[in-house]
Amino acid sequence: MKKILLLGSGELGKELTISLKRIGCYVITCDSYENAPAMQVSDQAEVFNMLDKNKLQEIIETHQPDFIVPEVEAIETQVLLEAEKNGYTVIPSAKAVNLTMNRDRIRDRAKNLGLPTASFAYAETEQELILEAKKIGTKVAVKPVMSSSGKGQSYATTKDELKSSWKFAIEGMRGNRKRVIVEEFIDFDYEITLLTILEKSGNVSFCEPIGHFQERGDYQYSWQPANCSKIVIENAQEAACKMVSDLGGSGIFGVEFFVDKKGKVIFSELSPRPHDTGMVTMYTQNYSQFDIHARVLLGLPLPEIKLNRPGASHVILAEKNATGNYVIEGIEKALEDQSVDLRIFGKPFLKPYRRMGVIMAETLDKAKIAARKVSVQSKA
Ligand SMILES: Nc1ncnc2c1ncn2[C@@H]1O[C@H](COP(=O)(O)OP(=O)(O)O)[C@@H](O)[C@H]1O
Ligand SMILES: [Mg+2]
Repeated sequence: MKKILLLGSGELGKELTISLKRIGCYVITCDSYENAPAMQVSDQAEVFNMLDKNKLQEIIETHQPDFIVPEVEAIETQVLLEAEKNGYTVIPSAKAVNLTMNRDRIRDRAKNLGLPTASFAYAETEQELILEAKKIGTKVAVKPVMSSSGKGQSYATTKDELKSSWKFAIEGMRGNRKRVIVEEFIDFDYEITLLTILEKSGNVSFCEPIGHFQERGDYQYSWQPANCSKIVIENAQEAACKMVSDLGGSGIFGVEFFVDKKGKVIFSELSPRPHDTGMVTMYTQNYSQFDIHARVLLGLPLPEIKLNRPGASHVILAEKNATGNYVIEGIEKALEDQSVDLRIFGKPFLKPYRRMGVIMAETLDKAKIAARKVSVQSKA
C-alpha cells in the first residue's frame, strides 16, 4: 500500500484523496486547520503550518511517505527540494513545486522558454511599483508573488490606484516575501485552462480545454470543452508541453492561457496539480483530473481520457462578510434539474467569499440556475 503525504487539504485535495483511496493508497492529509475537507476522507491528518520548515521536515521524517503531493502553494518548498535529494518523490517534481510557488519564478521560466506572456516586472516598494507600472502601460494587474485564488490581486490605472494596489497586495500576500508582480492588463477575448498530463516516461497528453470566468481573481464558473479554434488549441498545447517538460516529474498540471481578440495564445500561469476550474471534469470526463493525477503520480498506466459529455461547473460561495458556522440551503431545489450534480466541500467555517461547494450541469445556463438556488447561510 503506497503512503501519500498530501500537503493541503481543500476541496481539490478531498477529491484527490478519494481517487487515491479508491486505488488502495494510505493518505495522510495536512493543513493549518482541523477537519479540512480532505481530512474528512483520509486515513490520518496532521494540523500544522506548512510554511514552518522544521515542522514540515519533521512530518516528512515521521511518516516516510512514498509520495509527497502538494495541493496548495503555501509550502516551504526548500524542504521539498531537500526531501527529493534524500530520495523522496515529490509530485510532480520538487522543481515544479518550487518554481510555481512564486509567480515571479514561473513567469521568468516561461519567458526563457520563449512563451508569449503579458509584459511584467517586479516591485518591492510602492515607489518601485509606480515606476514599473508606468513603463508597462496604462492599465496593470498587481499580484503578490505568493498568493492564490485572487488574494491580494487588483487592477490599477492611476497613481492612487497603484498605491491602494500595493497595500492590498501586501495585506493579501502569503509567506514573507514583500514582492509583487506587476503585469500588463490583457483585454482578453476569453481564458482557458489546459489540463496537461505528464507521465514519468516524459509522455505529454491533454484534456479538452476548459473555459472559465473569474471575479475578484477567483474562478466563478467553467465549462468544457471551451470553444477554441484548432490553431488556438495547437498553440496552447505546444506551450503547455514545453512548460511541463521543462518542469519534469509526473502528474497533471493546470496551464492557464489568455486568448486575445486576434486569437493569440498568451501564457498566464501554471499549477502543478489539479486545477479549481477543472472540477468540471468530474462531470464531463471518463476519468476526472483527480483520477488522472492519482494514476499518473503512482506511475500506473494512463487510460485513454475521453470527454463523455460537455458540461459546466459553478461555484457556491459564502457571502462577502461571512464568518463562523453555517448551513447550506436549497440543495433539493438545485437537484430538481436531473442533469445537475454537486459537491459540498464540508469546510468547517465560513470566510468572506469562501468556496463552499460546486454545482455541475450539462450547460452553463443550467449550472448558473442551479447555483442560484443554493445559498450559504451563517448560523449563530
Ligand atoms: N494580466 C492580466 N490581465 C487581465 N486579467 C488578468 C491578468 N492577470 C490575472 N487576470 C485575471 O485574474 C485571474 C486570476 O489571476 P491568476 O494570475 O490566475 O491568479 P491566481 O493564481 O490567484 O489564480 C485570471 O484568471 C484572469 O481572469
Ligand atoms: Mg489562476
